[in-house]
Amino acid sequence: MSYKLGEVILSRETIARRVREMAEEIANDNGRDKGLVVVGILTGAAFFLTDLVREMPEDMDVRVDFMSVASYGDSTTSSGVVRIFHDLKSSIEGKNVLVVEDIVDSGLTLSHLIDLLNGRNPASLKVCVLLDKYERRKTEVKVDYCGFRIPDKFVVGYGLDCAGMWRHLKDIKYVIEE
Ligand code: PRP
Repeated sequence: MSYKLGEVILSRETIARRVREMAEEIANDNGRDKGLVVVGILTGAAFFLTDLVREMPEDMDVRVDFMSVASYGDSTTSSGVVRIFHDLKSSIEGKNVLVVEDIVDSGLTLSHLIDLLNGRNPASLKVCVLLDKYERRKTEVKVDYCGFRIPDKFVVGYGLDCAGMWRHLKDIKYVIEE
């Protein structure tokens, strides 16, 4: 099968506007003087995260950390496992944590990750995703901040890839499979 770039689903302007709104909402909810550890899940979320935190107020105590994980198991497996390729640099115990993902699809990665991070006793743990492919959910995940709900179509750009390609696109586009 070969892949071609299709139409834009979310333009860079639409994304930027929504990212600003989300950053404002997160800053208002969290409070500026309470610290917030923003945890990006590599690789895709790095693009969204860096734009998101730069829209947060300068006087807000924001820290950034990253994890690289892969999830195994499915909704019929009793306990899911997250394999950690790269862990956080700092402890999140007693901290307010915001997990940032580019996309939630089946929900397995996030639900396993939330269990794992909650086991480290943060003061609070919230989830922020840019895209929600809600039709594909296999397990329930509480998403506190969602950029856009999108249909179950293959999309790339702004961090999302097709076999490693097209993450660098400024707009999010459909992929045409031929
Ligand atoms: C994507 C995304 C989530 C996961 C969502 O990561 O960033 O981590 O898939 O899917 P799920 O809800 O079905 O678990 P991917 O494995 O493509 O890694 P990448 O960010 O490095 O591209």
